[in-house]
Amino acid sequence: MRVPRHVAIIMDGNGRWAGARALPRPAGHRAGIKPVRMCIEESVKRGIKVLTLFAFSSENWKRPVAEVSLLMQLFLESLEREIEELAGRGISVRFIGSREQLAPAVVASMEAAEARTRDNERLMLVVAFGYGGRWDITAAARRLAIACRDGTLQPEQIDEARLGCELSIGDLPDPDLFIRTGGEQRISNFLLWNLAYTELWFTDTLWPAFGAADFGAAIDSYAERERRFGHAVAASGADAC
Ligand code: IPE
Ligand code: IPE
Ligand code: MG
Repeated sequence: MRVPRHVAIIMDGNGRWAGARALPRPAGHRAGIKPVRMCIEESVKRGIKVLTLFAFSSENWKRPVAEVSLLMQLFLESLEREIEELAGRGISVRFIGSREQLAPAVVASMEAAEARTRDNERLMLVVAFGYGGRWDITAAARRLAIACRDGTLQPEQIDEARLGCELSIGDLPDPDLFIRTGGEQRISNFLLWNLAYTELWFTDTLWPAFGAADFGAAIDSYAERERRFGHAVAASGADAC
């Protein structure tokens, strides 16, 4: 069976999951930790090489201060609790997104986790936190502009490959499979550039209820897709034009 090398997930629906149970939104965010563990386990088991999780978007800063604080606290707690186990299992962790608005303790913990797991090769876990696809492309464009101004790069040398390399995950293969839980069928400023030819899979299941069987269903669906990347459909008869 064809297994995706890179799976990227928008983990959506925590608030609605809590609301449906008459619980406060934070309870939904807490319940969202278990499926994160499950996806990491399933990815390792299935030989997926990169797993990218959208945990907090550049637009999520617009949420009420109390919810943002809770998400920051949960992120920090989970990272500190899980990092040794992740390291021990051969998982390498990377964070993408703007760190400018993050508290120093959060940034320190991210940097420590990246340094601690740098040499691991079983699975690359990319966590998009404070991330926006437009931020990523803009930051890349700015770095290229600075290189041109400084004379180390010529504008004519800028092509898709050069710009692509400058992005947060430009050194990794593009996602093969995109999963979004929670029923919305949109990208919400996730990996805009890198998703150009990714296979998309949506489910109404809310993130805290997303289980191994759902993850398996997405992987099975991927295995049946015919990826063409703009090429003609393979001709079954004799006359190709
Ligand atoms: C996803 O769940 C978590 C984050 C965006 C941080 P939501 O909090 O967006 O949950 P819904 O979409 O309101 O149900
Ligand atoms: C996308 O979910 C971001 C994350 C899951 C981190 P949102 O809930 O923020 O997306 P919209 O607002 O419904 O598009
Ligand atoms: Mg949402």
